[in-house]
Amino acid sequence: MSGNIDPSVLTARERRDMSEMLNIIKTRRSVRNFSGKKLKSADIAKVLEAGRWAPSGLNNQPWRFGVIENEGLRNRIAVFTRYGSIIRRAAAVIVVCMDVADSYNRDKDLMAVGASIQNMLLEAWDLGIGTCWMGEILNKKTGVADALTLDKDLDLLAVVAMGYPAGKPQKGCRKTLKNLLIKGTKYP
Ligand SMILES: Cc1cc2nc3c(=O)[nH]c(=O)nc-3n(C[C@H](O)[C@H](O)[C@H](O)COP(=O)(O)O)c2cc1C
Repeated sequence: MSGNIDPSVLTARERRDMSEMLNIIKTRRSVRNFSGKKLKSADIAKVLEAGRWAPSGLNNQPWRFGVIENEGLRNRIAVFTRYGSIIRRAAAVIVVCMDVADSYNRDKDLMAVGASIQNMLLEAWDLGIGTCWMGEILNKKTGVADALTLDKDLDLLAVVAMGYPAGKPQKGCRKTLKNLLIKGTKYP
C-alpha cells in the first residue's frame, strides 16, 4: 500500500490499480450494512466464478451455490440467525452447501468449501461489493434447509450476504505473525 492514501475512500478497482492481491486480501472487511442497490447479474456471476475455481481435494469441487435475491425468501431464512438483519439488508445472499454425494473426506471437503467462499469474498470486494460470511446460522441449519427445500445431500455450510456497502466497515485487526507461528518455528 503506497504512502498516505486511505484505502477506505477508494473503490476496490482503484485499490487494485495501486496494488496487488495482498492488498485486496488485507483491505477486505466484512460488510454488514448495504445500500439497498441491486447487484449487477454479471457481477454475481463473477463472484460465483471465483468460487467455482477454488482448489479441492482430488478436484472434487464439493461446493454448491444458491443465489437468493428475492426479499421474501431472504426474510424467511433471516429468522434462523441472530444476525438476520444483515440478510434482510443485503441485496442478495449466496447459500453455500457441500454436496455430500460428492464428498470423499469431510475435513478436506470442508476446507475446499471454505476456500471457495474466500475466493468469492475477495472477488466481490474487488468488484466493490461488500460481503459477510455468516456462520452462526448453522446452529439452525435444518430450519434453513427446510425453508429452502434443500436436497438431502446438500449440507449447508454458510450464507454469504452481499451488497454495495453503506458507510464505512469497521477497522480490521489481526494477531501478529509472531503470535501465529507454531512453537519451535521461526520466521523470518
Ligand atoms: C466461519 C465464519 C463464520 C462467520 N459468521 C459470522 C456471522 O454469523 N455473523 C457475522 O456478522 N459475521 C460472521 N463472520 C465474519 C467474522 O466476524 C469476520 O470475518 C471477523 O470478525 C473478521 O473481520 P473481517 O472479515 O472484517 O476481517 C464469520 C466469519 C467466518 C469465517
